[in-house]
Amino acid sequence: MAKKRILSGMRPTGKLHLGNYVGALENWTKLQDEYQSFHLIADYHVLTTDLSTDEIYNNTIEMVIDWLAAGLEPEKAPIFRQSQIKEHTELFLIFSMLITKARLERNPTLKEQVRDLNIENLTYGHLGYPVLQAVDILLYKGDVVPVGEDQLPHIEITREIARRFNNQYCSDEPIFPEPEGKITQFARLPGLDGNRMSKSLGNTIFLSDEPDVVNQKLRKAVTDPQKVRKNDPGRPEICLVFTYHKKFNPEELGEIETNCRSGALGCVECKTKCSAKMNQFLAPIIERRKKYEANLDLVKSIINDGEQKARAIAEVTMKEVHQKMKIG
Ligand code: TRP
Repeated sequence: MAKKRILSGMRPTGKLHLGNYVGALENWTKLQDEYQSFHLIADYHVLTTDLSTDEIYNNTIEMVIDWLAAGLEPEKAPIFRQSQIKEHTELFLIFSMLITKARLERNPTLKEQVRDLNIENLTYGHLGYPVLQAVDILLYKGDVVPVGEDQLPHIEITREIARRFNNQYCSDEPIFPEPEGKITQFARLPGLDGNRMSKSLGNTIFLSDEPDVVNQKLRKAVTDPQKVRKNDPGRPEICLVFTYHKKFNPEELGEIETNCRSGALGCVECKTKCSAKMNQFLAPIIERRKKYEANLDLVKSIINDGEQKARAIAEVTMKEVHQKMKIG
């Protein structure tokens, strides 16, 4: 049987952090054998919240280096920019007729963004963010979309658009799948201040952070505020560093929990253990990153190759769409 297809994407925000990794990228690398995967760089999506384009290219390269360093294998799983496949804009126009303005205004991810970024005048394109995302997924007939939790509403909109198109234009046989979102176990890794890990909050640990940087950042991380002195008993369930141990140091988890509660383990030592594990995890990623940094032509040619593969598929889908719609 043919492999099911994954379509996943990220906006190019530059260097990635552990939150990006744990929330999505880790799943991408794990699933690339079981599925036929495509990885999309959502460069047009950047414009929804930031019209300046100066950084998009560099941010794209930095992000792709992190993807590769984290273990994506582009021969198996092509990497491409949305902007370079013109079928995205074409299908976006068609899909925008298949969903109402009221439906898009109910999108909780949009509401959150409007609130967090203090957006007073929402653009037509920003309102249409999930429509463009639906195109990203459906042009490649993605069955499964591994994303962070915040993206599930967009997958739901994608399913609705697929259904609407199929009902309206494909009386014989539907052409679009209704894709499913797949979230990771640690869908949200908190940042160093306990909030959601996010570049704009300045609370990140980057995949490219060298050991001394990680050590320093963890030293400042918040822990249980009631554990003031080394031998005070702590509450792992509310401790950020304990959350990091869960992810990066599962072997020692039980021991750390016991010794934190009893007061035998102080926060300084606990943090040292934690950063050692994180650094162990990051070491191979940093090493691979250096190889790609030293060979940018390779990175560019990987993107180029990916775009050729993506384009071939997008062209076929678009032809089908035109046929079904009796256009052209
Ligand atoms: N909206 C996603 C985000 O902000 C990025 C994205 C764009 C995406 N197109 C996609 C994710 C298609 C999955 C599939 O993280």
